[in-house]
Amino acid sequence: MFLRVAAIVPLLSLAILPAIEARPQSYAVWAADSAIARGQGNGLGSNGAPVNSYEHGEFQWGLRLLYEQTGNKTYFNYIQAGVDKIVSSNGTIGGGYSFSAFVQDYIRTGPSFIYLFQQTGLAKYKTAAGTYRSQLNGQPRTAQGQFWHKLVYFNQGWLDGIYMGEVFYTAYTKAFDANNATAWADITSQFKLMFDNTLQNSTAPNNTGLLYHGYDFSHTAVWASPDRGHSPEVWDRALGWYAMALVDVLELAPANSGALKPTLLKILNVLAPNIRDAADPASGVWWLVITQPGRALNYFESSGTVMFIYSLLKAVRLGYVEDADGSIVAAMKKAYSYVVANWVVPKSDGTMDWKNTVSVGSLGGAGDYNYYVSQTVPLNDLKGLGAFLLASLEFEKLK
Ligand SMILES: *[C@@H]1O[C@H](CO)[C@@H](O)[C@H](O)[C@H]1NC(C)=O
Ligand SMILES: *[C@@H]1O[C@H](CO)[C@@H](O)[C@H](O)[C@H]1NC(C)=O
Ligand SMILES: *[C@@H]1O[C@H](CO)[C@@H](O)[C@H](O)[C@H]1NC(C)=O
Ligand SMILES: *[C@@H]1O[C@H](CO)[C@@H](O)[C@H](O)[C@H]1NC(C)=O
Ligand SMILES: *[C@@H]1O[C@H](CO)[C@@H](O)[C@H](O)[C@H]1NC(C)=O
Repeated sequence: MFLRVAAIVPLLSLAILPAIEARPQSYAVWAADSAIARGQGNGLGSNGAPVNSYEHGEFQWGLRLLYEQTGNKTYFNYIQAGVDKIVSSNGTIGGGYSFSAFVQDYIRTGPSFIYLFQQTGLAKYKTAAGTYRSQLNGQPRTAQGQFWHKLVYFNQGWLDGIYMGEVFYTAYTKAFDANNATAWADITSQFKLMFDNTLQNSTAPNNTGLLYHGYDFSHTAVWASPDRGHSPEVWDRALGWYAMALVDVLELAPANSGALKPTLLKILNVLAPNIRDAADPASGVWWLVITQPGRALNYFESSGTVMFIYSLLKAVRLGYVEDADGSIVAAMKKAYSYVVANWVVPKSDGTMDWKNTVSVGSLGGAGDYNYYVSQTVPLNDLKGLGAFLLASLEFEKLK
């Protein structure tokens, strides 16, 4: 049972209780309950119609972990009710899903389908997961084998797509196709191609040793660099998606998954210290455009920040990354303190608001600095709030 102090404090005089602050015992519970109270991530869009949304898939991933941690069935039921908005009783997928658009984003709801099948035995969830798996079989690829982000993004690999597609691909293969060596090699290759094609190297000005948002294998997009075809900036959330995919897939991958684990461990061990070192030294959190710290209109962005906290704390906890001097965990604790002090806002109804998550970042247009910094920053964006739930689950395991 979690006591929500935030709901009690307004009844008392703060003056007589200076030691009690308006914060709950578990930020993970508070984040989840606040989103649920607002009806976020429930399988419906803001117009009330069913929606197939990767944000909901991400949030459901957090709710599953919270359910496993607390045993509170409310979270399980919320996942199932949300999925049932987009999976019909015969297993067809609605909510705007289009197989033939070959959009990797849709597939991020797939891990919830597999989980519900395993928990309930209902065939419709397996049928729906099978549809996504078939989509991957037809997903267009570059000549090297990288999935295109969507059919409309000719020859383009985006970091986001690794989180949207490969977490599902891994969960599906583990659950239903565990001896498919081709599939394990393919998942490995998706991560590796993305890494090799987007890693910023020492010839770059402001080199961070991190990953550009994406690349165009044909080098024809307006933003593609002439030499390697990569996009111009390191965008915090794209890297956050990729980092979360690394630790989540590492955790899922079984022993017989070929080169998957060693490959991901190698990549993670390159990125983890570079992510730590790219944080703003004063605040401890990350700029929206990591390659341009302090530039006018750039700002500290919350979704990328909490994705890094989740990924790096999980990487250390599960022994994927050695943190011999404790500097990674220390940096994530520092970042987390900034997050709760600046981006979590208690409300009088006992819920919390979540701030500073950028709405979108796409390579569908210019993909340059001015593009990223001009996107809206709505209150309670679920991409950030869902990742705050994940970061809080990890942070609360430290204690
Ligand atoms: C489960 O979570 C819900 C939502 O936070 C809460 O209302 C309920 O009291 C919790 N149940 C238990 C048994 O803790
Ligand atoms: C499955 O259900 C959907 C929605 O209820 C319906 O439109 C579709 O025709 C059904 N398909 C089959 C093969 O029964
Ligand atoms: C194994 O995975 C490969 C690559 O995704 C796929 O083409 C093939 O159909 C899978 N085999 C089976 C039996 O599902
Ligand atoms: C490093 O990046 C630059 C710019 O994208 C490119 O020209 C160069 O070939 C890269 N070097 C290596 C070793 O990848
Ligand atoms: C390097 O970083 C500085 C400081 O943020 C920025 O003004 C400059 O535009 C960056 N240069 C490049 C090539 O990104």
